[in-house]
Amino acid sequence: MSGLSSRHLLGLENVPAEDITRILDTAISFREVLEREVKKLPPLRGITVLNLFYEPSTRTRISFELAEKRLSADTVNFSPSGSSVKKGESLRDTVQNIEAMKIDMVVVRHQSTGAPYYLTQCMDATIINAGDGAHEHPTQALLDMFTIRQKYGKLKGLRVVLVGDVKHSRVIRSNIWGLKAMGAEVVLCGPSTLMPSEIERFGCEIATDIDTALDGADVVNVMRIQLERQQAGLFPSQREYTNLFGITKERLKRLNRNYTIMHPGPMNRGVEIATDVADGKHSVILDQVTNGQAVRMAVLYLLSGRDETEA
Ligand code: CP
Repeated sequence: MSGLSSRHLLGLENVPAEDITRILDTAISFREVLEREVKKLPPLRGITVLNLFYEPSTRTRISFELAEKRLSADTVNFSPSGSSVKKGESLRDTVQNIEAMKIDMVVVRHQSTGAPYYLTQCMDATIINAGDGAHEHPTQALLDMFTIRQKYGKLKGLRVVLVGDVKHSRVIRSNIWGLKAMGAEVVLCGPSTLMPSEIERFGCEIATDIDTALDGADVVNVMRIQLERQQAGLFPSQREYTNLFGITKERLKRLNRNYTIMHPGPMNRGVEIATDVADGKHSVILDQVTNGQAVRMAVLYLLSGRDETEA
């Protein structure tokens, strides 16, 4: 039995505030464990986790692997290069063969939207989405919310600006659902060519002017500009994007005094964010990375069902 209302974490759309609060609260004690000399606990002993990464990753992959090890799970890592995917083996055959070796949980990153859901249809294991296409990246949004709550003690009522490629960003989507469930005021900002056609359904304030978006903001979460979008003609040049939407010290004068700068990484320094902002005193970018491990420990722990037996 999962300690959450679902046995999988596929996204944050329709996840109740109670589940989000439970994950964030559970992560507080795991965050404290990360400050200890011995950063290891027993609750996932005997559980085997597969990290199935079809797309590149630095933060999410290492963070999940460390989270699993710190909770005493057995872990196995898969990437397509060097595997039988190169001989044409399908996703279904790949995961069913690995599951035959007795896997309990799968952390999956895949370039196709819906791949984590697909795995729930062909495996018995618990599935955790580590980023699927342009759909969702739920643990990134959870660690973002943890980091905001760590600083302000709350999420409700804060003005959070998500700036970048709204159309293609899975981090933005998960942040929208999570932040709205927790009562934050969410502002979406980016070029109109990078706004999705269904934007109204998000129920957020929309701004194509960065200075309007930043007015009175508490948090600015800056997204990576994916350079392949420029080749697709969705914005004219990196320089123009930087001029219109780049987060610089000058622009930040419009924010509340105790403002926070976030970025999920990897960053294009000098494109979507200036280096002196990324490394400045309002930046919590590396705190996000540290907190990510605690949040992923909480997700693994709660979805494993071990919280009821060994808490
Ligand atoms: N934020 C994030 O998902 O980074 P990685 O692609 O390095 O995992």
